[in-house]
Amino acid sequence: MRAIVNINEKCGIGKSGDLLINIPEDMKFFRRTTAGCIVIMGRKTLESFPGGKPLKGRVNLVITSDASRISDESIAAADIYLGNIQRGSETYGSTARQFKELAASVLAKKDAPAAERQTVLAAVSSPEEAAELCGTYSERDVYVIGGASIYAAMLKYCSRCIVTVNNSTNEADSYFPDILHSDEWVCSERGETHEHEGVSYHFDTYDRNTWNAHNSIHFSEIDSTNNYAKRLIEESRQTGRPLPDAYLVSADMQTAGRGRLGRSFSSLRGNGIYLSLILKLDIRPDGGNIITPAAAAGVLSALEECGSERLGIKWVNDIFLDGRKVCGILTEAVPGAAGDRLEYVIIGIGVNIDADISSMPAELRDIAGCVSGLDRSNLETAYRIAEHVAADVNAALHGDSRVIDIYRDRSILIGQEIVWTDNSGEHSGVAEGIADNGNLIINEGSHKTVLMSGEVSVRQKN
Ligand code: BTN
Repeated sequence: MRAIVNINEKCGIGKSGDLLINIPEDMKFFRRTTAGCIVIMGRKTLESFPGGKPLKGRVNLVITSDASRISDESIAAADIYLGNIQRGSETYGSTARQFKELAASVLAKKDAPAAERQTVLAAVSSPEEAAELCGTYSERDVYVIGGASIYAAMLKYCSRCIVTVNNSTNEADSYFPDILHSDEWVCSERGETHEHEGVSYHFDTYDRNTWNAHNSIHFSEIDSTNNYAKRLIEESRQTGRPLPDAYLVSADMQTAGRGRLGRSFSSLRGNGIYLSLILKLDIRPDGGNIITPAAAAGVLSALEECGSERLGIKWVNDIFLDGRKVCGILTEAVPGAAGDRLEYVIIGIGVNIDADISSMPAELRDIAGCVSGLDRSNLETAYRIAEHVAADVNAALHGDSRVIDIYRDRSILIGQEIVWTDNSGEHSGVAEGIADNGNLIINEGSHKTVLMSGEVSVRQKN
């Protein structure tokens, strides 16, 4: 989720319930950005809206310890009011489900005129409940909109803050956490400076900075980020200096990029980003199968968050756009010294971004594609991918089924006639589904086959 806020250079939000300065352009920007989304707020923020009315065409989620204090006017102005989605109460399951259904219908009409979207008002009793309820939505669909105590409580769930920074010197009595001068946040986009009534302001974007000099390294050029990751693990074993639980190696180009099944991976400068995420594990070797599909789901979510659309996953771990492969993933497990546990996994990811396909080897030119128009730099895309992959792999390893649900939803093979080869020759069948452990279920007519790994292709129609 994201926070959206208008602050001055000292992070002051306002005084006595009012903003430090009302900037009409900022109001328009706020309305545009949050249209058709879930907006999370405190009760006083709801009351501060004209007539105490919830924001139109959005899902207004109010965090309040006492939902009975939400005014009748606020409730009457909503198309639908969902009392208190309180965890632990008997109705939690059904109201949470109702919330999700309503949110889905509002989000689905995000780009439609406001009048076509319902105005939903719902209440939860704590920031944790709001985070739990909204944790499954795309980052760009959920905005924390205030006030100060809600920002303070919800910031830990936000990966991005959309900040209008003004230079008003008016005295404030409520503040946003100081992300402007914190190492934990980086300004990934600084907008042009505008002026309103003598006050200047700019629209900036701040992203959480998970990756730093202690847990990541970036190369302009390297042989292979997966090879470097292996060398790092070896060095850590020899020196006894532990690696962080997650470590990111990224590069602008690779001279010996490796793909699956012993192939090479075209990794030219300017064609994309190449990265390897080292995750520390301590699992049985057979527990690692879920890592590859979880990584694919993580890459897909990250690319979507960065602005890519229409992506799909081709089992087991290729990301496709419009019938072309835009990303490949090479997962390499590293066993511990005794050999009975997996100690690390190296997840190597190569994403073609604004690539010149004609510069790639001839055999790839009809197959390879690229994502384009990402709203962030290559390195920031790499950071975002690493963050999502680490979160999704850890969640899947802890039994969270949401990751495999995303994988299943976005699988492009389901229902397709596919072919594959194994030791006994060539086979074909219809891809029927993805099992909970990421295996591919294929209907061969007389029987079903379950593939754990390997490569399949869609049968070309003559
Ligand atoms: C495939 O599609 O066959 C897998 C390709 C994986 C490529 C990535 S790029 C970063 C990392 N380093 C490598 O040498 N390979 C992986």
